Amino acid sequence: MISSLFYLSILALHLAKPTCALDPQVKLAFTIDRPSQGFSITADGKSIFLQLANFDDSTGPGLMERQANGSLTAYPNQAWNSWTEGDDPTTAFLSVAAQRIGPDGQLWLIDNGYGSDGVIPEGAKVVTFNLTTNQRTRTYPFGNLTHTASLLDDIRFNGNEAYSTDAGVGSIIALDLVTGHGRRLLQNAPATVGYMPTSGEGYLMRNLTNEFNFIHADQLEVSPDGKWLHFQTTAGGMSRIATKYLHSALHNDSITDADLALKVKPFAATSCTGSTATDSEGVILVWVDGMWLDGQKRLWLPAAQFNRAPEWHNGTNEIQKPIHIYTIDVENGPAAIDHA
Ligand SMILES: *[C@@H]1O[C@H](CO)[C@@H](O)[C@H](O)[C@H]1NC(C)=O
Ligand SMILES: *[C@@H]1O[C@H](CO)[C@@H](O)[C@H](O)[C@H]1NC(C)=O
Ligand SMILES: *[C@@H]1O[C@H](CO)[C@@H](O)[C@H](O)[C@H]1NC(C)=O
Ligand SMILES: *[C@@H]1O[C@H](CO)[C@@H](O)[C@H](O)[C@H]1NC(C)=O
Ligand SMILES: *[C@@H]1O[C@H](CO)[C@@H](O)[C@H](O)[C@H]1NC(C)=O
Ligand SMILES: *[C@@H]1O[C@H](CO)[C@@H](O)[C@H](O)[C@H]1NC(C)=O
Repeated sequence: MISSLFYLSILALHLAKPTCALDPQVKLAFTIDRPSQGFSITADGKSIFLQLANFDDSTGPGLMERQANGSLTAYPNQAWNSWTEGDDPTTAFLSVAAQRIGPDGQLWLIDNGYGSDGVIPEGAKVVTFNLTTNQRTRTYPFGNLTHTASLLDDIRFNGNEAYSTDAGVGSIIALDLVTGHGRRLLQNAPATVGYMPTSGEGYLMRNLTNEFNFIHADQLEVSPDGKWLHFQTTAGGMSRIATKYLHSALHNDSITDADLALKVKPFAATSCTGSTATDSEGVILVWVDGMWLDGQKRLWLPAAQFNRAPEWHNGTNEIQKPIHIYTIDVENGPAAIDHA
């Protein structure tokens, strides 16, 4: 575990500066012209999906599929990707936070519902798509589970439940995938609140008003046996909690955040990172953004360069295009609880 983390933090240094020599084990898969913070591939390797960010001031669809000829097309179509202020927020993507293929083979997308003045509760949702028909199969509205300052970040599965992180108001959101009932947990608990500002390439990141940036509960991974949820803020310091406690709290409002906070245990002294992925042996791999482990035991690493966005450089865009998508061969494939 420690050696993997150490190795990948060395790798991260290479990835941070695409101009320095790459570790020969790291292969360039392809390049794109917008930063990707979410990456997933179907088990047959045929379909690649990318969540595309606009922190480089780019515009365009938030969710795209890469075609065999390398071109990107809006998924499931342009209409879902064309929301503007005033449109129905329930049937389009306002701001795609993450997307991933779930253990059921469907595409799961988390929309943080961000409009121009913060979160629009009706727009914050999880949407599933059947990858055979490309039709929407279900929407889980987050509604009042969100706050205006929420930043829903990612999702992981555990049988009939899922967990999501809120990086804006540090929390874990537990969701019953059968009934759609959700509950916000561990709000502003020590483990869900960033203890340090976010850093990148050796600098603490400051925004346009020169204030430090904190990204709260962000990365999360369920252990292959479903017994633990590991999570951390972007500043690092990974914690874990037995999922049985999240399950109980999801169905019992008498269980308070203070009760739950007592069940959180420190897990690993990780450093600042953009994302994590977990393999079938439960090894958690750290860095870049929106990583994906495929069935061929390849770890996909989109080097999103988030820390170089204009927001952290007084409005100057320091991102070097194109954006590189790397792969590295690893020892294990994905955990079945996560995806095939
Ligand atoms: C690439 O493939 C897509 C889907 O088949 C097609 O719509 C598009 O025109 C192709 N682009 C080029 C440049 O051939
Ligand atoms: C997706 O649609 C296909 C074709 O209708 C169906 O056979 C399959 O069961 C669906 N998959 C899921 C996960 O619902
Ligand atoms: C939020 O809660 C209020 C008050 O209970 C309710 O009127 C409103 O419909 C809820 N909004 C959503 C999106 O769930
Ligand atoms: C910068 O961050 C601070 C603290 O999070 C926040 O209050 C402020 O609104 C941010 N400024 C901008 C321009 O986003
Ligand atoms: C709900 O949680 C409270 C507080 O821990 C506990 O006393 C109660 O027995 C629980 N209820 C059920 C139905 O488990
Ligand atoms: C942004 O400008 C402020 C005020 O001039 C300066 O103190 C700060 O170092 C600059 N930040 C960056 C990242 O260049």
